[in-house]
Amino acid sequence: MEQSSAIRLENVTKTFGPVVANKDICLDIRYGEILSLLGENGSGKTTLMNMLSGIYFPDAGKIYANGSEVSIRSPKDAFDLNIGMIHQHFKLVDIFTATENVVLGLSSDKKKDNLKAAAAKIREICDKYGFEVDPDQKVYNMSVSQKQTLEIVKVLYHGAEILILDEPTAVLTLQETRKLFSVLRNMKEAGKAIVIITHKLNEVLEISDRVSILRRGEYIGTVDTKDATELSLTEMMVGKKVSLDIERPIVEKKKPLLEIRNLSIKNDEGHNAINDVSFYIRGGEILGVAGIAGCGQKELCEAIAGLRKIEQGMMIHQGEDISTLTPKQILEKGISMSFIPEDRLGMGLAPSLSITDNMLLKTYAEGKSPFVDRKRGRAEAQKIISDLGVVTPSTETPVRRLSGGNVQKVLLGREIKSGPNVIITAYPVRGLDINSSYLIYDILNNQKKNDVGILFIGEDLDVMLSLCDKIMVLCHGKVMGIVNADNTSKEELGLMMTGAINLAEAKSTPDKTIGIAKDSYIKEETK
Ligand SMILES: Nc1ncnc2c1ncn2[C@@H]1O[C@H](COP(=O)(O)OP(=O)(O)O)[C@@H](O)[C@H]1O
Ligand SMILES: [Mg+2]
Repeated sequence: MEQSSAIRLENVTKTFGPVVANKDICLDIRYGEILSLLGENGSGKTTLMNMLSGIYFPDAGKIYANGSEVSIRSPKDAFDLNIGMIHQHFKLVDIFTATENVVLGLSSDKKKDNLKAAAAKIREICDKYGFEVDPDQKVYNMSVSQKQTLEIVKVLYHGAEILILDEPTAVLTLQETRKLFSVLRNMKEAGKAIVIITHKLNEVLEISDRVSILRRGEYIGTVDTKDATELSLTEMMVGKKVSLDIERPIVEKKKPLLEIRNLSIKNDEGHNAINDVSFYIRGGEILGVAGIAGCGQKELCEAIAGLRKIEQGMMIHQGEDISTLTPKQILEKGISMSFIPEDRLGMGLAPSLSITDNMLLKTYAEGKSPFVDRKRGRAEAQKIISDLGVVTPSTETPVRRLSGGNVQKVLLGREIKSGPNVIITAYPVRGLDINSSYLIYDILNNQKKNDVGILFIGEDLDVMLSLCDKIMVLCHGKVMGIVNADNTSKEELGLMMTGAINLAEAKSTPDKTIGIAKDSYIKEETK
């Protein structure tokens, strides 16, 4: 198929004060093609695409749409050029239905469209590309993936021919990603121009025709996907030779450090968030927890940290019941918690305080004098900065000014410094680029080698399969199974995450579930 140019960027530059977010970038977006925009965190991908969606205006350079030079000064200009962007944070109104959200903000002549006609048109779009949307469903009843689907349907409804998706798979399960990719392919077949921003290399290779790579605001080059490998792309992205293996050190098995027995916990709405969950973590092992958003991971972490009341069951740490201890007492037992929420700064660190002050937040209670020991805090901050390679102007820089990877290193560094025996860590590499992610895996592996027991609440199944020793899968607050990472597959985990395979129940029924032996609820020795 002949691919004509949809958008051409020529030497586009955008600065924010002293930061050059994009420098002389050239890019070619074509109809009937999927282009991946690849680069580490902060390399300028979102900024670049925001200049096509009318959010930012370039300082220099030219943009051509369908061959003519254009000036995109507002989202409306972008819309008039048939450019639609699906942002990382959705912009839907919760209390409205799918249809109401789709027609929201249409220019006045179209507002007269009655909702019935709109719903019919939505169904038509869904049939054409393979989306599943219920026009009458309220947004607050939708899963993240359904909301994303709706955002895409919305821009198509508005006539988008050029679609830009900013890290769309970051919030999706494997199966949901497959579905998204299948509709992207259908849209490509229909002649749309598609740009997908991602830093997941396997996805780049799977979905795109060409890949354009940015590094620190600069354009590195564009390659045909068929000529690229994970390694070649990584090297373009980071600018040096790298190894992509995640290490899984073999550590001699220790006794269980933390044991959870028949735990049940309610969520904020009073419903069961965790239902009769049992597992244990040994010293020197990483137990992964996989599950789709809202499967109870958050409540589980909160309960272990002493932040959420448990309804039933026991939590035993080194032979002692810790179910009724306060968060402070639990911390003193050596159980540390680092939870990276979706908005990274929302929990764990105080964004406006310096790195030093964030160190002190955790230790001020240990001080012997009534005065805060800033000198010690600064020394600790300095040590984390050098040990973990935190990029920051100084120990006194407010945490909110650091980039995501560096915030996460500070958070994990502070937890590790307290010398925990159990580390609970949720999404420690959320949103991080490949370099920072590997640094975090190294940090965790080093703790494992020191016989720390680690509970790793993860998102990327490939990573979990490489890094973790065992993986527990939760679905609607129940354990679907605990499997050896060596002895399972992404597909099996994905099916357990959605409840299609339940090894826990397979245990008590005589028949086999999709070829999995009935006694494999915990696929390893339990001694
Ligand atoms: N509104 C803004 N104000 C100041 N700096 C910004 C703004 N948006 C982005 N930046 C900076 O520009 C650079 C590129 O950011 P971004 O485009 O978000 O990267 P990416 O999407 O590749 O992670 C980063 O250094 C970021 O801190
Ligand atoms: Mg971005």
